[in-house]
Amino acid sequence: MLPTLSPPVQVDRLLADLHTLAHFSQCDDGSSVNRPAFSAAYREASDWLIEMMRKAGLQSRIDAAGNIIGRLGPSKGPAVVCGSHIDSVPAAGTLDGTLGVLAGLEVARCLTEENATFERALEVIAFTDEEGAFLGEFGARAMIGDLTAEDIDTCSSRDGTRLRDAIAQFGLDTSKLNDAARGPECFHAYVELHIEQGPVLDIEGLDIGIVESIVGIRVNELCFLGQANHAGTTPMSNRRDAFRAAAETATKTFAILERDFPPDLRLTYGVAEVKPGAHNVVPSSVRVIQEIRAGHERAIDAVHDMTMQLARSISERLGVTFESRLVSRDPVAKMSNRISDLVEDVCQTMKLAVRRMPSGAGHDAQILAQVCDAGMIFVPSVDGISHNPAEYTSPDQIGAGVAVLHETLRRLLFEK
Ligand code: HGY
Ligand code: MN
Ligand code: MN
Repeated sequence: MLPTLSPPVQVDRLLADLHTLAHFSQCDDGSSVNRPAFSAAYREASDWLIEMMRKAGLQSRIDAAGNIIGRLGPSKGPAVVCGSHIDSVPAAGTLDGTLGVLAGLEVARCLTEENATFERALEVIAFTDEEGAFLGEFGARAMIGDLTAEDIDTCSSRDGTRLRDAIAQFGLDTSKLNDAARGPECFHAYVELHIEQGPVLDIEGLDIGIVESIVGIRVNELCFLGQANHAGTTPMSNRRDAFRAAAETATKTFAILERDFPPDLRLTYGVAEVKPGAHNVVPSSVRVIQEIRAGHERAIDAVHDMTMQLARSISERLGVTFESRLVSRDPVAKMSNRISDLVEDVCQTMKLAVRRMPSGAGHDAQILAQVCDAGMIFVPSVDGISHNPAEYTSPDQIGAGVAVLHETLRRLLFEK
């Protein structure tokens, strides 16, 4: 029987933690957060979080992949898991990922104060490199045993640092990464609280979004190799211009996407490196990172195939060599109806306005969904802004989200 009395979550305590965590950043301008996985700022944030978990009464540890795990309750058996990530994109706000982790910490504090005996343990986890400084959802992948030796060998960051070297610098042993893997029997359920990062809840004036599915994401590296030459003396017809091939490929893929594909597809070229990088030299090489997102795997494959065909034919016409490499692929994930129904019931009890919705952002939940029932609770992002220092959710909106997380986790912890 679920006890009905529980100390309420303390939003001020959570906001203070969010404020403190924001200061662990490579930026010292105080207006944005830059905390890539395995950086010095990430190390400091990790050490702080481990200590905060310990103070809250959790058994805390860092696993072989850098995931930070805090556990409350029985030391063995399946756990009800909540969490998210504390790494960030460059020039980030203060809520993406951190809200889910620190809300989990706040719930753990309330449960400790409640002093009840649960059926099973609670775990609060900060998963490593969700944002893909090296490999998106690296920590979650490691935890479900889905990392390959090739992933570890081939991944590097924007500045060329190899994942292998970054992990070693962080103080972990890459030969032991498989030790982070845990079987499905370790997970009773996974629930992640996150900001929506889009405009839907804000526009519709709703308190909570219940995520039904998470978008699939394919990241490709496209390399165009031409020939450097003088920008003034080389006739247009004699050039092997790597940038021209890359630009034409990008422009044509956008045009075909708009003409032939449904509007929910997303195509982004977020990185473009032009070499040698001088205004008076025809570019000899261009490296582009392309990201394709959709709610169906087939649509992702179709955009991928279309890009490859275009890039090959454009490159051939321009005398450029084209090569491509898969960087990462996140599966389209369905969230569990059982968890979504539970969250909706909790919201109804609290008289909160909710809707079910898909997530266009990737999350650790889409990896955890491969091994257990997983669900996500969204709170509004004011003006739909995220991956931007202006990312904002009001204290009341955060309070509603963490209260829903608290009650959802309690029910999962107590259920027979
Ligand atoms: O890239 C994403 O969708 C997420 O913010 N990691
Ligand atoms: Mn993000
Ligand atoms: Mn996130």
